[in-house]
Amino acid sequence: MAKKIQKNANVRLIKELNKALGWELRASAMYAHYAAYVQGIESSRLEEHFNEESVESMGHGRTVRDIIAELGELAVTDRDTAPIVHTLDSRMMLEEALKTEKGAAAQYAKIMPMVKNQPRFMHALMHILMDEQRAVVEVERLLAR
Ligand SMILES: [Fe+2]
Repeated sequence: MAKKIQKNANVRLIKELNKALGWELRASAMYAHYAAYVQGIESSRLEEHFNEESVESMGHGRTVRDIIAELGELAVTDRDTAPIVHTLDSRMMLEEALKTEKGAAAQYAKIMPMVKNQPRFMHALMHILMDEQRAVVEVERLLAR
C-alpha cells in the first residue's frame, strides 16, 4: 500500500517536472526569438537580457531533466505548446516574458512541496524558483511597474 502511494506521488511529480521542462524549452525558444527581433532605443540592452534569459532557461531545463533522468523516468523533448507570440514591439515582448516567468514561478512553487523529502532535488529546484522570482521582478522593472 505504502509503495503504491509512493508510486502515485512519483507519477505526479514526474508529470509536473515535465511540465516545468516543457515550459523551460518554450522560454528558451521565446527569448532567443525576441533577442533576434528586438529593435528600437533599448534594443542592445534588451537583446542582452533576452539572450541571458534564453541561456538561463536552458540551464533550468537541464537541471529538471537531470532530476527526471535520476528518477529513472522519461523527460519530454518538446516544448510546451503555449504559442510564442511574434512581435517587433519590445513592450509586448516584455509582457510575454512576464507571463512566462510568472508561469514558471507558479509551476516551481507547485512542485516544491512534492520534493520536501528529497533535499537534493528541493535545493536545486529552490534555486530555480528564486531565479524565476527574480526574473519577474526584473521584467516588472523593465516595464517600469
Ligand atoms: Fe526558468
